[in-house]
Amino acid sequence: MMPFETILTKSLGLKAPIIAAPLGRGSSAHFLASVSRAGGFGFVALMHMPEDTVASELSAISRATNGRFGVNLTLIVDQRKRLEAALAAGVRHFSMWHGDVAEYIPAIKKAGGQVFWTIGSVEDARRARQLGVDWIVAQGREAGGHLVGSAPIMSLLPAIVDAADGLPVIAAGGIADGRGLLAALSLGACGIWMGTRFVASQESANHPGYKDKVVGATAADLVETKLFDSGWQDSPHRVIRNSTYENWIKSGQPANGRRPGEADVISRFPNGKPLLRYDVAAPWATMEGEWEAGPLYAGASTQLVHQILPVDDILAGIVDQAERELARVSRLHKAS
Ligand SMILES: Cc1cc2nc3c(=O)[nH]c(=O)nc-3n(C[C@H](O)[C@H](O)[C@H](O)COP(=O)(O)O)c2cc1C
Repeated sequence: MMPFETILTKSLGLKAPIIAAPLGRGSSAHFLASVSRAGGFGFVALMHMPEDTVASELSAISRATNGRFGVNLTLIVDQRKRLEAALAAGVRHFSMWHGDVAEYIPAIKKAGGQVFWTIGSVEDARRARQLGVDWIVAQGREAGGHLVGSAPIMSLLPAIVDAADGLPVIAAGGIADGRGLLAALSLGACGIWMGTRFVASQESANHPGYKDKVVGATAADLVETKLFDSGWQDSPHRVIRNSTYENWIKSGQPANGRRPGEADVISRFPNGKPLLRYDVAAPWATMEGEWEAGPLYAGASTQLVHQILPVDDILAGIVDQAERELARVSRLHKAS
């Protein structure tokens, strides 16, 4: 038997109970294929993917991963067409958050799919089973990216496990190493869901400068803000402080519409569309222009990320460290 076999590893056929969170444009086919080959499982965000390209993008990812990946839908906009395209492309694992998940579940269930719901409260955990959710993703407030967590993962996770009525719970936020995996399993989770750690992987398609920032940042370099709101208003997110944030602070934190450089075009999307200073898009590998000015999403786990590693080494290192730590704790227990 492999170490740390859980309902998650059994259900998805994983070597380790480790999921790669959606990373914006960082979740390329190459990245997702590396995660799948290493024995993990990754999700790609369809958030702003043009509806007419969803089918072709997903079929490329499906070829690269042998169909072993899932998609993520942020429900602040109507995602029914993207869901339909993903189902038609054969996707059966759907992660959702921010919005009314109930509307989307019947179509997924009808196709025999599974629903991962990212939540941040005990109240949502109580509703999950009745809604038809298969997996709860409990996100702690220390997470990187957009936030739903109402408390840090250490207290939120066991509270959600208690309220989940037996549904399996995956832990997200603040986890980047084997100690985090072991802690999450000890607190009742069946696996971990990491974003920040995978941004700083060799294969992710995030901008290399952004990866270096994740490696260099401590918790003191992070901030929770609603600043990067073009495309997603009024939604708190955790980022590494950058020039856009510092200039906004220096100018007295003016409201949306009066912020410094509001109309600045800091780069262009691959389709030529202008990328504005306060856009939600995190800097991607081939981005030109002022990549540093965009949202550098990262969580408190940055302080555990010291190197940009291949995905394979990240997964193997986490499992090794968790085994060593388990042995250490077990010795403590026996010695008492
Ligand atoms: C670059 C980046 C982009 C993210 N984009 C999404 C997204 O589109 N949808 C989503 O459900 N979560 C997204 N998240 C949040 C993750 O799913 C996860 O909750 C978070 O990364 C966990 O905290 P950690 O960064 O400490 O591992 C993103 C996180 C990062 C770092």
